[in-house]
This record gives sequence, structure tokens and C-alpha cells, in this order.
Amino acid sequence: MTVPVLTIDGPSGAGKGTISRLVAKKLGWNYLDSGSIYRSLAIALLQQTVDLSDEAAIVKVAETMDLAFECGDELIVKLNGVDITAQLGLETTGNTASIIAVLPEVRQALLQKQQNFRQSPGLVADGRDMGTVVFPDATSKVFLTASAEERARRRYKQLKEKGIDANLSSLTLDIEERDRRDSERATAPLAMAENALYIDSSNMSIDAVIEEVLNLIR
Ligand code: DC
Repeated sequence: MTVPVLTIDGPSGAGKGTISRLVAKKLGWNYLDSGSIYRSLAIALLQQTVDLSDEAAIVKVAETMDLAFECGDELIVKLNGVDITAQLGLETTGNTASIIAVLPEVRQALLQKQQNFRQSPGLVADGRDMGTVVFPDATSKVFLTASAEERARRRYKQLKEKGIDANLSSLTLDIEERDRRDSERATAPLAMAENALYIDSSNMSIDAVIEEVLNLIR
């Protein structure tokens, strides 16, 4: 029997991580945060000062990096044995991830790493191309979005809570820039899968979104 997959795709800051983690917990399924794989690669490249326009060099790092995920209440990620969790959420990490994610060979090198997460009893996979490219045969697909302003506000709040200084208008510009890059790239752009359920969470509570997603599974 094939292992069921629920894909949750959407732009940065739409709440995919929160929703996916909670839904996975409710269902007792595994969870793939595919963005963290791109982010981990970005950290490896920044550490090794690899030229971000040298696709072959990036692919080499992608193929040889050793990533380990420990999924407890918080996701812990180890890159070549070293805990990089604290660096995963940084803006530079996200922006670098978005820049290297346009490269087709890089996406190809990360494909199998993502598909390996499909393990019994099921998988909730969050990202940009989960329903379109990585798991096209997924049982259920969701496209989760929110307005750029609302996503920037949520990000601002998150950063402030962590004691990190932030500026709302520059966060909004960053988010719009990232949306553009993720949506306009030639390979596996951010796009809604044909048979996905569209949810705009701008004015919805987390519980309401979870309810809609669980209804889809039921
Ligand atoms: O979801 P996130 O913000 O952690 O992702 C960081 C970047 O990684 C995002 O801007 C684009 C890239 N990414 C991708 O291209 N495909 C995915 N499935 C997940 C992330």
C-alpha cells in the first residue's frame, strides 16, 4: 500500500509550518518541512563561502551534506553532526535558500531527500512544490496563503517575541521579493496544484484552518 501524503504548499509566512506540524501531530503522521532542507543547504553554502552562482559547486554540497532531523515539540536539525536549528530561521538563511532554490540541478539533488520522508503511517509535507513536483500523487493537497501584509505582520510579531529587532515595511518588501522569486522561477515554481484546496488564512484562526484541513482528510 502506498503511504498517504497531505501536501501543504504556499508562500513564505502563510502559516504552513504551524498548521502542518499541528495536523501531523493530530493524525500521528510524519512531518516534512521541505523549506528547512533548502535552508540547511543555504547554511552549508554560507559556512563554506560557496559562490551562489556556481550551480555545480552547490549541487556537490547538496549531495554530500549529512542532514538529520529530530522531530519533537520543536524541530531540531543537524548539519554534518552540528545543531543548526538556531540559524534556520534567520532572514539571511531564508533569502539565500530562495536564491539557490531557482537552480534546477539543486532542486533535483534535494528531491530524493524529501521523498524519503514518506513513511508509514503517513506524511504531512509543507513547501512550495510538494503537491506539484515532489508528491504529485498525494492523497490530499492544500494551498495555504495570506496577504503579504498579514504575513509580514506575523513575521514581525515572531521576531519581536524572540527579541530580534525588525522593521515591518522592510519585512513586507522582503516577503514580496521572495514571493516573486519563488513564483517566477522556471523550475517547480510556487503554484497551486490542480486539485488543491485553496485556503486564505488572512482572517482565520489557526484552529479554523486546521479544521478545514482535517475535513479534507476525513
Ligand atoms: O518555507 P521556507 O520559507 O522555509 O523556504 C525557504 C526557501 O526555500 C523559499 O523561499 C524557497 C525555497 N523552497 C523551495 O523552493 N521549495 C520548497 N518546497 C521549500 C522551500
